[in-house]
Amino acid sequence: MRSIFVTRKLPENSLGRLAGHFALTIWQDETPPNRSDLLEKVAGKDALLCLLTDTIDQAVIEAGSKLRVISNYAVGYDNIDVEAATKMGIPVGNTPDVLTETTADLAFALIAAAARRIPEGMSYAREGRWKTWSPTLLLGTDLHRATLGIVGMGRIGRAMARRARGFSMTVLYSDPGAAPGLEGAEKVPLESLLERSDLVSLHAPLTDETRHMIDDGALKAMKRHAVLVNTARGALVDHEALHRALAEGIIQAAALDVTDPEPLPADHPLHELPNCLIIPHLGSATLATRTKMAQIAVRNLLAGLEGRRLPHCVNPEVYEKK
Ligand code: GLV
Ligand code: GLV
Repeated sequence: MRSIFVTRKLPENSLGRLAGHFALTIWQDETPPNRSDLLEKVAGKDALLCLLTDTIDQAVIEAGSKLRVISNYAVGYDNIDVEAATKMGIPVGNTPDVLTETTADLAFALIAAAARRIPEGMSYAREGRWKTWSPTLLLGTDLHRATLGIVGMGRIGRAMARRARGFSMTVLYSDPGAAPGLEGAEKVPLESLLERSDLVSLHAPLTDETRHMIDDGALKAMKRHAVLVNTARGALVDHEALHRALAEGIIQAAALDVTDPEPLPADHPLHELPNCLIIPHLGSATLATRTKMAQIAVRNLLAGLEGRRLPHCVNPEVYEKK
């Protein structure tokens, strides 16, 4: 019987169709397996279903020398050394498309929350500071007719551009790999996007090129009333630079669904800033979407185990070499 290691319990009965057909090892803890657990558990397994919280580096891949597939329960795959997997001939799967609209919904919710200062208003009301209506209380930035800058015009970026139309926004995007004129938006260099946008939303994958793309210089290029939203990967943003920019009023606010590191420690200075909204990586967090992601991850897993091409493979080069 072929064996599978799954690094966490998945929603609903997503793994039900595997039971009985495979020797299934499911990590039961709420926190991820640590490195030595991972190294031990992948040894001798035929397939691995992992999460974005699991670092699948070269050593783990080599420890799993029998693996026929690595199926990531996420669209992003910066947690996996894909090059090492490719060298070993192991296909790597991800879960695109099903989470696109769900993640764009959350990014838009964060834009609205940060621009209109909803968490600050909530604390104000709860803490008994609300004495009267005030002409100058918690003034924010308008969404309608604002200029939205989308950094990374992939599936989620384009879903953002479609939503922006409903708010009569002007939409700019920067993405070296994207065609011009997508979704009726204007493609511009990153620097000009930062200078012109009221709202900047990040949707780029994390790579060596995009790491810390939002640094001191980028934040200084932004407008003083600008709002930065990150639902992509934490390390796109230099967090020390962001703290300085928010504390010194270089930009108005930030909303982060992703941080660096994750989780962001509770005593991290960014948590102390009223103009920094932080939530725990909830981009795809609806039951419907997490269930669809599990179905795709299982389909990728089964295809790999059966030697078929993965429906969603991030390193199709593995098939050329064979
Ligand atoms: C979530 O961040 C994902 O990549 O699916
Ligand atoms: C990338 O994560 C995308 O789906 O746009």
